[in-house]
Amino acid sequence: MSNFLAGLGEFPHVRMRRNRAQSWSRRMVCENTLTTNDLIWPLFIIDGQGQRESVTSMPGVERLSIDLIVKAAGEAKALGIPAIAVFPSTDPALKTPDAKEGLNANNLVCRAVRAIKEAHGDDLGVICDVALDPYNSDGHDGLVHDGKILNDETLELLCQQAVVQARAGCDIVAPSDMMDGRIKAIRQALDAEGFQRVQILSYAAKYASSFYGPFRDAVGSGGVLKGDKKTYQMDPANSDEALREVALDVSEGADMLMVKPGMPYLDILRRIKDTFAMPTFAYQVSGEYAMIQAAAGNGWLNGEAAMMESLMAFKRAGADGVLTYYAPLAARLLNEG
Ligand code: PBG
Repeated sequence: MSNFLAGLGEFPHVRMRRNRAQSWSRRMVCENTLTTNDLIWPLFIIDGQGQRESVTSMPGVERLSIDLIVKAAGEAKALGIPAIAVFPSTDPALKTPDAKEGLNANNLVCRAVRAIKEAHGDDLGVICDVALDPYNSDGHDGLVHDGKILNDETLELLCQQAVVQARAGCDIVAPSDMMDGRIKAIRQALDAEGFQRVQILSYAAKYASSFYGPFRDAVGSGGVLKGDKKTYQMDPANSDEALREVALDVSEGADMLMVKPGMPYLDILRRIKDTFAMPTFAYQVSGEYAMIQAAAGNGWLNGEAAMMESLMAFKRAGADGVLTYYAPLAARLLNEG
């Protein structure tokens, strides 16, 4: 770096503003671009027909019944968004300590995936979370016994959950549970059932974050959550540990990686991209969305500009794509040029 600086020369010989003076020149020296291909849209599903409910802590985001999810998927496709991620808001009556609704081939998420695939075929990728929290009466991603989150017993359920989702037509399973060994176990389970083509997007570096709060409202897992997720999700203080998590997931067969949350973890994203050269995604999570919406709603910043800047920041930090609740809005702005 010091040699590089020495070669730079000095003012007034050097003027950084020369390249920035004209719009065409700024475009010419621009290092990163954001396109609709970089966007993945997370959607919340509820039961019923023609139902939409707004999520209070995520202004502008709604839970949709399956018929409306199918419509939203069509909108995504028309906008050029390559994939959507679907999350069920499960009826509390169906939540149990063994999370068995997650293995039900007719659960909300499976019915939604089948309907989306029937309507849109192979033109749109569908991603499903693999974790027990939508179905677990304890709100945890794994089985709970005596206040402890069981690892190996949870793996068996995650495998069955992934297979059930693959059978429904899911293209990408995204384990977000942070149990040890899940990627290998899920890959084996999928292959054994003939789903060699189903991709695994591993939430490899997922932190125990307070930025997930609004999501837990959206899917109704927040109220029931007992304790926190610190025994399986990562400590926000750690960075080297993320590389170990990723190395394991890559060796176990992950096709793609995810860093989560997004904006406060751009350093992690950059390290992972540089170290592994894998397809790497960032999740601009619910709390990040809520922050921008809240400030914009109060007139404290220009919401659209701040949002587009945040998405570009992910690209600059090395992301191949971003899961964002802003996906349709961003795609619309990009398509308008
Ligand atoms: C559940 C899951 C969470 C999110 C995605 N999958 C929440 C959690 O781990 O508690 C958060 C997404 C968001 O905040 O937007 N396994």
